[in-house]
Amino acid sequence: MNVTDAMLARKSIRNFLDTPVANELIQELLSKAARAASGGNLQPWRVYIINGDVRSRFVALIEARTDSEPPDYAVYPPKLKEPYRSSRYKLAEDMYALLGIPREDKPARLKHLARNFRFFDAPAAFFCFVDKIMGPPQWSDLGMFLQSFMLLAQEAGLDTCAQEAWANWPQTVAEFVGAPEELMLFCGMAIGRANPDAPVNALVSEREPFEHRATFVI
Ligand SMILES: Cc1cc2nc3c(=O)[nH]c(=O)nc-3n(C[C@H](O)[C@H](O)[C@H](O)COP(=O)(O)O)c2cc1C
Repeated sequence: MNVTDAMLARKSIRNFLDTPVANELIQELLSKAARAASGGNLQPWRVYIINGDVRSRFVALIEARTDSEPPDYAVYPPKLKEPYRSSRYKLAEDMYALLGIPREDKPARLKHLARNFRFFDAPAAFFCFVDKIMGPPQWSDLGMFLQSFMLLAQEAGLDTCAQEAWANWPQTVAEFVGAPEELMLFCGMAIGRANPDAPVNALVSEREPFEHRATFVI
């Protein structure tokens, strides 16, 4: 698989088979992803992997929780303006259409959202942290690392879903994985193999045309 194939094939998977993923493979992919560029070569990503039984223990812990935690950062700006608002809305509508959940059925929508906190049943996952002293440039480095990982996973026959939803459980995640105080949770990453029979996995999210996001200056 070349880079173009991996770019075109990768998409977020929201229903996984329980087929195990070997720690050795995750280690290999993370080691290769660490070749991602980062400003000043700071390599600001810090990753904690939970796989198999450890992941199940963590999910059980989360599912037993009835309280909530304040996020360490705002996943979206408070008033998302256009065209971003419409993009987000369209993604949700397309996803719930595939799931057969109408807009009025709030409980069913919330139930699907809650599947984030089971990693959509993926058997393996990691959490990506960053040092609290880091700023926007280093957060962008995390993105490069995460995308590199997702492309490499694609090449290795694995599927993924990056998950900012975990920003809702920063303390619990940090405590469970043993992350030191100076780190802050950015996101999770569900890792496994897509369930080919799950309608939600048919979702191919749209992209804006090239000229809406890029301009050749003349
Ligand atoms: C950093 C990051 C966090 C994300 N968080 C979530 C999440 O919590 N839950 C989810 O279902 N999708 C999440 N996504 C997936 C995005 O919704 C998805 O990437 C976007 O809609 C484009 O679709 P695609 O990945 O299928 O190409 C996240 C993606 C990124 C890059």
